[in-house]
Amino acid sequence: MSRPLRDLRISVTDRCNFRCRYCMPAEVFGDDYPYMPKPEILTHEEMAKLARVFCGLGVEKLRITGGEPLLRRGLPDLIGMLGEIPGVRDIAMTTNGTALARNANNLKKAGLHRVTISLDALDPEIFSQMNGVGATPERVIDGVDSALEHGLGVKINSVIQKGVNEGQILPLAEFARERGVTLRFIEFMDTGNTNGWKLDQVVPSVKVLEALREHYDLHASEAKLGETARRYHHADAADTEIGFISSVSQPFCSDCNRARLSADGQVFTCLFATHGHDLKSLLRSGASDEELTNFVSSLWSARDDRYSELRSEIGGTQAKPEMSYIGG
Ligand code: GTP
Ligand code: 5AD
Ligand code: SF4
Ligand code: SF4
Repeated sequence: MSRPLRDLRISVTDRCNFRCRYCMPAEVFGDDYPYMPKPEILTHEEMAKLARVFCGLGVEKLRITGGEPLLRRGLPDLIGMLGEIPGVRDIAMTTNGTALARNANNLKKAGLHRVTISLDALDPEIFSQMNGVGATPERVIDGVDSALEHGLGVKINSVIQKGVNEGQILPLAEFARERGVTLRFIEFMDTGNTNGWKLDQVVPSVKVLEALREHYDLHASEAKLGETARRYHHADAADTEIGFISSVSQPFCSDCNRARLSADGQVFTCLFATHGHDLKSLLRSGASDEELTNFVSSLWSARDDRYSELRSEIGGTQAKPEMSYIGG
């Protein structure tokens, strides 16, 4: 397997204003949940310094994640610093969109290229039940429209769960098509240890595609190396794509080029890794750029992760990082 390091996902906070059941079930992530203490969290300068190290090793794409990244103050400053790193050609953010309408302008000005907005349902009741805090979708929809108005690239992510939001597949596809934005359907994954994942709650992407093909003429788009999604486009609107992220039914480990940095400075070489590697301590002990580079480089070259391919063998038996901590 040739899996060069190309993509770094930086989680800037482990907190979120939503409690999506598949990610942060409210009964686990209550007021007494041990979120990261402030001194443990990397500053923007520290994040940018580490990002620079990864970019020196081949990273070209940076993605800011959370929790919900827009809960962190001063993100435009971080984006500005990331944009100055040589070799960076794409800076994106994955967000729940609730605070996007008021931030889109500043994010764009700071140099953010695109946002991926999670939206699992348009039906207010289903959306409210899924986000666990009773929020309705208007603010997220405003976030989508505001991002488009300000010239940010926009994708929408929808996690589909059996018996929960299958009825939303078509409305979501229509919503995305009307706006000419890419929509990706994500299979419910067994991330973390708290979301109660069961295989029979997963809607395989082939089923979603089948449902869509009853209404749309969809053609496969050309696949790109290292991509999470298999993409299709509308025959009559080639720029509007529908993607499928099928980590359960069709794992994509063989060309996985993504590293993850948690907000407390741990590096993970897989979304499902049992443990991270402590880059923060090295950084805070005054390590040189060369030492930091050697640390990451040896981790990456020793890496043999392919959890999704092995899920049926090891799934359920290993402790995994929570999605809100590792950033998806
Ligand atoms: P693009 O750069 O726009 O293609 O974004 P992305 O798909 O890399 O990132 P996004 O944050 O939108 O993630 C979409 C879904 O794919 C989320 O559910 C992620 O958890 C999941 N995902 C991203 N990278 C990986 C990965 O390496 N392995 C697995 N199993 N899932 C991943
Ligand atoms: N399975 C699949 N996708 C998930 N996400 C969060 N938790 C899960 C899960 N258990 C999605 C979010 C967001 C992206 C980063 O990951 O909806 O769009
Ligand atoms: Fe928050 Fe995103 Fe997790 Fe939902 S999926 S709880 S919005 S971090
Ligand atoms: Fe990469 Fe791990 Fe996801 Fe496989 S399961 S694609 S190795 S992050």
